[in-house]
Amino acid sequence: MSERAFLWVTHQVAVTRWVKAEVAARAPHLKFAFSRPGLTTFKVDGGDASPASAVPTSFARAWGLSLGRADAPATALEVIRGFTDQPVRLHVFERDIDVPVDEQDLTVRGRRAAAIDAALRAAAPAAFLPEARARAGDRVIDVVVPHGREPDEPWLIGVHDHDGDAPATRHGPWPGGVDHVPLPAEAPSRAWCKIEEALRWADLEPAPGETCVEIGSAPGGASYAMLCRGVNVLGVDPGEMHAAVTGFAGPHGNRFTHLHMPAAEVPKKALPRAFEWLLCDVNLAPMVALKYIERFVALAHGGLRGAVLTLKLNDDGVFEALPRILARIDKLGARTVRVTQLPSHRSEVVAILTW
Ligand SMILES: C[S@@+](CC[C@H](N)C(=O)[O-])C[C@H]1O[C@@H](n2cnc3c(N)ncnc32)[C@H](O)[C@@H]1O
Repeated sequence: MSERAFLWVTHQVAVTRWVKAEVAARAPHLKFAFSRPGLTTFKVDGGDASPASAVPTSFARAWGLSLGRADAPATALEVIRGFTDQPVRLHVFERDIDVPVDEQDLTVRGRRAAAIDAALRAAAPAAFLPEARARAGDRVIDVVVPHGREPDEPWLIGVHDHDGDAPATRHGPWPGGVDHVPLPAEAPSRAWCKIEEALRWADLEPAPGETCVEIGSAPGGASYAMLCRGVNVLGVDPGEMHAAVTGFAGPHGNRFTHLHMPAAEVPKKALPRAFEWLLCDVNLAPMVALKYIERFVALAHGGLRGAVLTLKLNDDGVFEALPRILARIDKLGARTVRVTQLPSHRSEVVAILTW
């Protein structure tokens, strides 16, 4: 490690103070260095730092070791060549701005990153592997640039290793971890984006014929996403489901079943003996939602492959309770637990578990 190592993390703009507070509590050797909207860096004050290092925060969508700054492809390539002479994966991506992604002009978002990515590849075709999606064992060069609608300013050049063994070092495989997945016209709600982004960030692929139970399923964006992937869905919600979900008929013959009641009232016999996926997106405090999650995990009888649990973080009180919430999630028995905040999230984070 160099004497002056810096780690960087990208995240939503609104949670910058929570990122700093969490890192200060969990890793006192990481000292806040500087921040730009959607990007916070920490000086490593003692301890080790490498491209495999994690930045311990529940809001990190991407993170890594800083290599320096650049303001043009030529200076970026100098920084990158000073670090490696092997072809590497290239991830150019834009920082978040303080506007919910579904209110942004999607023709502007990503335009600057695409232009810089093309310029870097044109200037040094042999320096980068052709595809963006990172594979296990890849070394990834990150170029973090301002959002397409902001004025340009120096880019942060970083590096991370994809993927470490520990859950905390598992990155999303796409530039910036994952980008926003735009809502298709037929999807019943923007929860479709949240589940699709979660599956992409965590590199999970539910398979046709599997079964998913969703707690808080109405009106049905997440259920619709799982149905389109060929998964049978049992949705638990006292609210009404959208017709695109209740009438779903896809090529795999999978169907939606509505358990039209609150989660507390679902009888054991209404659930299949085993199911592979559990989703939860209820507008309840996480400590309350966890009671239902714990019961449904037990009712899956060890058959779960994954769980995607949305945790509403409506205020500082819930943020302060986060360590206790995560400790309860750790006890669900999953092999890996990863927490992030996705592009489509508002006041929430997601815990993604795999067994
Ligand atoms: C954010 S919405 C869910 C969005 C949904 N996942 C989608 O994909 O469209 C929250 C839902 O939680 C449901 N909910 C609240 N309390 C619940 C409970 N105790 N049991 C089941 N659902 C509940 C509400 O009825 C509401 O439909």
